Amino acid sequence: MKFADLIAAKRDGKSHTYEELKFLANGASNGSIPDYQLSAWLMAAYLNSLDEEETSHLTRAMAESGARLDLSGLPKPWVDKHSTGGVGDKTTLVLLPILASAGLTVVKMSGRGLGITGGTVDKLGSIPGFRLDLTPDEMKRQAAEIGLALTGQSPDLAPADKVLYALRDVTATVGSIPLIVSSILSKKIAGGAEIIALDVKCGSGAFMEDRKSAEKLARALQSVGKRLGLHVLVSISDMDEPLGSAIGNALEVREAYNVLAGKHEGASERFLKLCLHYASELLTACGSRSSAEEVLKSGAALAKFKEWILAQGGSSFWERNDLPVAPVIRKVVHTGGPAWVSKVEAKVVGQAVIDLGGGRAKKEDAIDPAVGIEMAVMVGSTVKAGESLFTVHAADEQVAAEAEESARSGIHFSDERVEEPPLILASF
Ligand code: URA
Repeated sequence: MKFADLIAAKRDGKSHTYEELKFLANGASNGSIPDYQLSAWLMAAYLNSLDEEETSHLTRAMAESGARLDLSGLPKPWVDKHSTGGVGDKTTLVLLPILASAGLTVVKMSGRGLGITGGTVDKLGSIPGFRLDLTPDEMKRQAAEIGLALTGQSPDLAPADKVLYALRDVTATVGSIPLIVSSILSKKIAGGAEIIALDVKCGSGAFMEDRKSAEKLARALQSVGKRLGLHVLVSISDMDEPLGSAIGNALEVREAYNVLAGKHEGASERFLKLCLHYASELLTACGSRSSAEEVLKSGAALAKFKEWILAQGGSSFWERNDLPVAPVIRKVVHTGGPAWVSKVEAKVVGQAVIDLGGGRAKKEDAIDPAVGIEMAVMVGSTVKAGESLFTVHAADEQVAAEAEESARSGIHFSDERVEEPPLILASF
């Protein structure tokens, strides 16, 4: 097989067979197909698309391009979750302990953040000592002991995705639905789970800014997943405003802890709603009789969270108070008359956190785990002059002032009543 023929076929709108896509995935992972040819194919695939059958072939071929985590021996059901990424999205930190304390086995690989979408690896990485480099054996052992394990992206699992994703990032081909579906699902299949909850974010702070493309992605994830024997639960959730109150790594860990400990008002309550939605969906799909609310209320999920952090070498930060803290903490208040908050632009607030150093503009950027923004308002809140809008956590006064100005520009007000917008936009 010559790869140039595959490029020509896709350029001319033809379909690929499984064998051809296997050739592509193997060639990407072992380096036998050069980047310039893969890039040409990616653009042809972006322009002429892949149908559902080709997308499932590509997903399977990418999943088979490396090792597959063997979860045999662990109690079933094996579940996983994935979010397409958003601002302030710390759902994994609350959802996983709920699921594991209800008796499910969760083994998860998470990524680092890029752009305004944060990454779970960076959030957990702000806990002193927390290990994100567990080997497959360590993952399995820990999951057998406490029902849950999480590690960073392993180079051994779905290595074709690593190569293709890096090329998509620099060839303007990230936004193709078949390429997104194969990227997400190949890693999930290689990670071994059978039942997966997928949170497709929709709004200004997400990949999919409009409802139509979010629905298209959601349906494609579900149908390709089904073809490959996965039980995929998909919902679309709002990402026009940040999720929860904290945006920034250590701040998000603290918020997740507080939510598990029963402290959840305002935006944190909205965040908890999302966690409970996915927990309930997964528990129902697994035939569990546990209730997510009960597991949370009983303190079992908080106890599981602590067990998890300690199992992976993390500090008992809830006792030691050793999460990183920014040197400058600036409270920002409302200066206008009484009003309703009509909009909190996730994209603007997310960018302000990147500018503070809390996120990455480029893959190789270092991040400051202590910095970020804590929102005191959400869409539908009322505010009066002098009341807090948000708090900036910054490395120095200068960046704090800049973040104040830019985050302020993302908050809009109305003299007329504004209701809290829906959180779950659709479920499939
Ligand atoms: N997340 C992924 O893992 N891959 C994509 O292509 C998009 C989002």
